[in-house]
Amino acid sequence: MSIPVFRPSYDEREEAAVIRVLRSGWIGLGPITEQFEQQFARQVGTKYAVALNSATSALHIALRLVNVGPGDEVLVPTMTFVSTAMVADYEHAVPVFCDVTSEHLLIDYADAATRKTLKTRAIIPVLYGGRSVPPPPFDVPAIYDCAHAAGGRFDAAGKICCWSFHAVKNLATGDGGMLTTDDEALYQKALRLRWLGIDKSTWSRSGVERKYWWEYHIDQTGYKYHMNDITAALGLVQLEKLDEMQRKRHALVRQYLEELAGVPDLDLPSYDADSSWHLFAIRSQYRNELSLHLQAKGISTGVHYKPIHLYPLYHKHSLPVAEREWQKLLTLPLFADLTSDQVSFIASEVKAGLATLHR
Ligand SMILES: Cc1ncc(COP(=O)(O)O)c(C=O)c1O
Repeated sequence: MSIPVFRPSYDEREEAAVIRVLRSGWIGLGPITEQFEQQFARQVGTKYAVALNSATSALHIALRLVNVGPGDEVLVPTMTFVSTAMVADYEHAVPVFCDVTSEHLLIDYADAATRKTLKTRAIIPVLYGGRSVPPPPFDVPAIYDCAHAAGGRFDAAGKICCWSFHAVKNLATGDGGMLTTDDEALYQKALRLRWLGIDKSTWSRSGVERKYWWEYHIDQTGYKYHMNDITAALGLVQLEKLDEMQRKRHALVRQYLEELAGVPDLDLPSYDADSSWHLFAIRSQYRNELSLHLQAKGISTGVHYKPIHLYPLYHKHSLPVAEREWQKLLTLPLFADLTSDQVSFIASEVKAGLATLHR
């Protein structure tokens, strides 16, 4: 069997948690989702967390929170998944693509500063691979795309952060997301936006003792973006296991770095103890040939990412660093249950593949 790039780490604890919710009779947005929100907020060090069906939804709601509207411009790095930019389209705003630093592929604020205009309403720094990104050096509301960052040590306090629990993420629930903030007004607004603008959740209205339990108010357009208790049950168990899963991830990353050190035509990421290490992305001028060699040996790889300004939907200006670096990028398998023997096998095949390509 081939080695996948990502794989969720589930055991009987997730199975039992889902079965408990199924048997409880309440599977929608309810008490387990609230519990997950509270524990997630505690874990990342914020006052509030709003559970959603994806990070894409979180990013979209975040743009509404900072009042991005038609014609506004949103600065985004090009080295990311398309969600980061496409949420601007949802509000008829314009994503403005910025280049990235060649070292860590994080948004290049010097480049972003040159693209800032009077119409710039927000900036979305992405924690590429889970590496922390500093705040922008200019005064534009920032929304942090933390889709890769669960399990890392990014300081979310005082920021708007959007997290992903998509199937391949460090904390995986199939699909799911979270918006975190310390601002109570933004929190209240996000709660309404995730549930069609309605001011009370069905769960909060469900107590039989409440007067006018059926009544609620709607004064704005919202979305059907909330999480449900089945997803949250998975999330709670994954959250409990996250530190342990991260310890394994970090050990595997250190092993890769040790075993691949000094290999010609190969650039390795520098070790970062605070990163969530969602991705282990190496760089080589022989990327395409190396990926074929690994595939033939039963090792799956990925590319994160082809810069999104290169897709026909968005193509506008050229961004030289991203355009150069992405052609060398190759994501090697990394997940908590990957074994040390598998890392050794992958590292030896990377070396063997590159050695044959040199000849
Ligand atoms: C950088 C980045 N931003 C946003 C997203 C969107 O996350 P989701 O799939 O939870 O909507 C993803 C991943 O899928 C991502 O990798």
